[in-house]
This record gives sequence, C-alpha cells and structure tokens, in this order.
Amino acid sequence: MSEQRIRAKELDAADVLAALRAEFVLDEGGAGSGGEAVYLDGNSLGALPAAVPGRVEDVVRRQWGELRIRSWTEEGWWTAPERIGDRIAPLVGAAAGQIVVGDSTSVNVFKAVVGAVRLARSADTAAGPARDEIVVDATTFPTDGYIAESAARMTGCTLRPVPPSGIPDALGERTAAVLLNHVDYRTGRLHDLPALTAAVHAAGAYVVWDLCHSAGALPVGLDEHGVDLAVGCTYKYLNGGPGAPAYLYVRAELQDRFDSPLPGWNSHAEPFGMRPEYAPAPGALRGRVGTPDILSMLALEAALDVWDGGVTIEEVRAKSLALTDFFLECVEAYVPGGRVECLTPRAHGKRGSQIALRCPDAGDVMQRLIGRGVVGDFRHPDVLRFGFTPLYVGFADTERAARVLAEVLTETGA
Ligand SMILES: Cc1ncc(COP(=O)(O)O)c(C=O)c1O
Repeated sequence: MSEQRIRAKELDAADVLAALRAEFVLDEGGAGSGGEAVYLDGNSLGALPAAVPGRVEDVVRRQWGELRIRSWTEEGWWTAPERIGDRIAPLVGAAAGQIVVGDSTSVNVFKAVVGAVRLARSADTAAGPARDEIVVDATTFPTDGYIAESAARMTGCTLRPVPPSGIPDALGERTAAVLLNHVDYRTGRLHDLPALTAAVHAAGAYVVWDLCHSAGALPVGLDEHGVDLAVGCTYKYLNGGPGAPAYLYVRAELQDRFDSPLPGWNSHAEPFGMRPEYAPAPGALRGRVGTPDILSMLALEAALDVWDGGVTIEEVRAKSLALTDFFLECVEAYVPGGRVECLTPRAHGKRGSQIALRCPDAGDVMQRLIGRGVVGDFRHPDVLRFGFTPLYVGFADTERAARVLAEVLTETGA
C-alpha cells in the first residue's frame, strides 16, 4: 500500500467533518472500497442531501396538493426568498436582511450590474465626469460577460474587460461598476476580494462579486469587507439541486438607493395593492421580481439544513485546503512528470476549492476517468476540473482519484 494510501486513512480518521457524508446520497460503500464513484463535481452540481426528497414530497403532496393556495401564507411560501436568504447569509459573512433568493445567477448579475451603475450615477457629483464605464473580469464565466455587455449598452456605458490582477490600474473617475468572480471557474484561482473591493471603493465605484464558486466552500466576508452587491448560485457547494434559485445580496446601507432594473410586483412595497405605479419595498425585498420558484426554492431550504449541526465555514475551508493539498501531493507522486500542468495556484490564499489540471487530451481523459468512477469535468479546450466539497469528499476519495488519473494518463501516453 502506498504511503499516500496509508495517509488517506489517517486523515479520514481525524476528519472532524467526516460524519456529514452520511447526510448525502452518494454511492454505497464510499471511496476506496471498490467500484463506487468518487464525486468530484460538486463545483458544478452538488450532491443530493438525503433530507431533500422527503421535504419535496411534502411540499408537492401536502402543501400544494392539499393546502393549495393556503400554503402561500400558512407554509410561508410568500416569504421564502428572504427567509432562505437569511439562511445563506451566515455562510457568506452577511447579517440578516440583505439577501433574497430567486431567479438565476444570470438574472441576478443583470439586476446587480445595472443597479450598481445606477448607484454610481446617483452618487455622482457635478464636479467630475459622468461615470460611464463598467469593468468586467476578463476571465469571467461567460454569462457574466454577456450580461455586463448588454447592461453597458442599456446604460450607455463602455465595457472594459480587464484581467483581475490589472483591475486596480484600470479604475478611475469614469468607472461606475466592476463585476468580478470570487473564484475563477476554470483555474480555481481565488481573487483578493478585500483588496479589490477596497480598490473599487477608492475609485468611487461600486463592486459586484459573483460567488458561485466560493459560497459554501470558503469564508467570503461580505459585510466585513464592505462589498456592495453580490450574486451566486446555490446548486454547487450549497447543494440546492439542478437549477436551484440563485441569490442577490445588497448591502444594507445601499438598499434605499438600490434601483432594480427588474421591478416586479414581488418587490413592490404593497404587492397586493395592485397599483399601477411602482413603489419599491424597503430592504432586501427590492431584489425580488416575480412569483418565486417554490418547488426548487424549498428543496434548497431543505438542503441548507446540512449546515445546521454546527459546521462552520472555517472548518469547511480548512478541510478544502487539506483535500486540495493532498490531491496535488498524490498527483505529484503518481502521475508521470510533465503529463499535466496545474493551473490552480499553490498558495492557499489564492486557491478556491477545486484543482484544474491542463493536459492536451483532457476531453478524452475525463471520459475515461468517468468510466472508471472518478467524476470530475472537462472545460474547453484542455482543462480537467476536480471539485472538492468538504461536506462529503474524503481523503480516500482524493487518493483514489489521483491514482486512477495516473493510470489513465499512463495508458493514454502523451
Ligand atoms: C461563476 C459563474 N457564474 C454564473 C454561472 C451560471 O449562471 P446561471 O445560474 O444563471 O446558469 C456559473 C455556472 O456555473 C458560474 O460558474
């Protein structure tokens, strides 16, 4: 048995989060015990928490089937967006009353970016030039870039794609809004949220962070670092399920001035007043639009119960770093030298919860890995992604993934 295999057993035995694995539906037996799959794709779709099917069944059969319309009030359907927002809040370092759940990440990017431009303009003084630039992370997940481009056209702004490291130098008195990804979806690089937020504020602009790849995997500190607006999905490290609704954070002090470009009736101060004129609700509710997607929203609410047993995001982060360190160590020990190149930074302060390895035949390699029960994913054109969700991935999983990867890479040559 290899040195790494022995260490994996020791690390699993000492893992304070190990018991949480039982709260998820994963292949029987666990990693290392045979042919069961090692699931390293929770950075794309989180695994199913075991409590969710029963809760969804209750929502469908009893709440919808029996109570019908009464559930909007009696089962709290109407207030679910802000109630579930308050459940996500501690995981991203936000006090209650600043997050609403609903719509997709893409739609929330739109609300946040246009809202940020409007905030910047409402704060404009007559002295300087009008703020007419939106800066976007040039390495962004595509949807953010597409929406920022459309938001720029609609608001009469110029869009400036800039690599995150160059953002401080690109900011100026014309910058209205900056849209950044906290963790790069392709490389797993963690960007410096405190420093970049401070740089945006020093330029008098407003920042929007996309937390899709960090929420539920590492501490974010939205309030602590004075972030203006943030969005994120809930189907990755929050395990809300396929197409689970996203969320929007608007910092408390900005809520009165937040002017949503999608002012639906759910964000009206008096939604059942059915008035022809729009009057925004106070607080985070302004981020709502139309009727919430109750079935997937309540599945998400059940999925968040996993966090209720006292697990802290700091413990999750510590295990995430230990898992990714161990994976890199195993890859180095097992994989023939030069066969892959690691795109994810080694420094803990610059790493999210995934490892991205570049190899020219990545598409074929990932297919073979999946065929042998190691499920990661492939990102065009040559990236193998392995996501580590500390709530249910263990060290034996990690060792096995690296071992199977080495077998595949050795067989396929280069
Ligand atoms: C950083 C980031 N933003 C946005 C999205 C997707 O947005 P939506 O939830 O609207 O599909 C993803 C999906 O993986 C993502 O990684």
